[in-house]
Amino acid sequence: MIMLTLPHDLKHYIETHSTAEDPVLEELSRRTWWETIYPQMMSGTLQGKLLEFISRMITPERILEIGTFTGYSAICMARGLKNHGKLITIENNDELLSISKEFFDKAGLTDKIELIHGNALEIIPTLKDFFDLVFIDAEKTEYADYYKTVMKKVRSGGWILADNVLWDGKVIGSTERMDAETHGIRRFNELVKNDPGVEQIILPLRDGIMLIRKK
Ligand SMILES: C[S@@+](CC[C@H](N)C(=O)[O-])C[C@H]1O[C@@H](n2cnc3c(N)ncnc32)[C@H](O)[C@@H]1O
Repeated sequence: MIMLTLPHDLKHYIETHSTAEDPVLEELSRRTWWETIYPQMMSGTLQGKLLEFISRMITPERILEIGTFTGYSAICMARGLKNHGKLITIENNDELLSISKEFFDKAGLTDKIELIHGNALEIIPTLKDFFDLVFIDAEKTEYADYYKTVMKKVRSGGWILADNVLWDGKVIGSTERMDAETHGIRRFNELVKNDPGVEQIILPLRDGIMLIRKK
């Protein structure tokens, strides 16, 4: 799901001049490619480092992630938490829980990450916390619903990141032939664009990441 088709040698240059994956993430990446059906859903080296850096810049007390998968992005973001901070991550596929738990432990983050199994749209309204940083990265047809549900739980001045907002470039394709996911992403992008309560920028890394600031 690499949206930006950079020349191979330029991509190699970027990767070799950015900090390499540490051994825990490298092992998680290998396991994800061996053991899951859609390993490309995982954030990976560059996006993972970006998530980590954004989190380190914010130093959040509370992070919410919608869509854990094998835990790669959760580990990256949890590294930026304040000392006593906590990351809650929600995943509805129970087959993925053992691998993410195993790697939260390997990363020394078991105490900082709470993994909740279930449907994010049902779980978010039950959460007591207010969040400094939210990462939306689950079912593309539900992005607008996640946004509406989660905004009530984001503190003023808080940040939301949403992955795959360019959806392989399909967001600018012809509307008649659009699949449900593309419609979902477009609906989300329009919703954010027309929300006077936020400012946002789309970063053209990988499949497009939207960075949103709640005013
Ligand atoms: C793109 S993957 C997440 C990748 C992960 N954030 C990373 O960067 O490594 C999306 C995940 O969201 C999960 N998911 C989809 N719909 C969901 C829902 N309504 N509630 C919770 N999890 C959901 C899927 O099972 C899948 O594991």
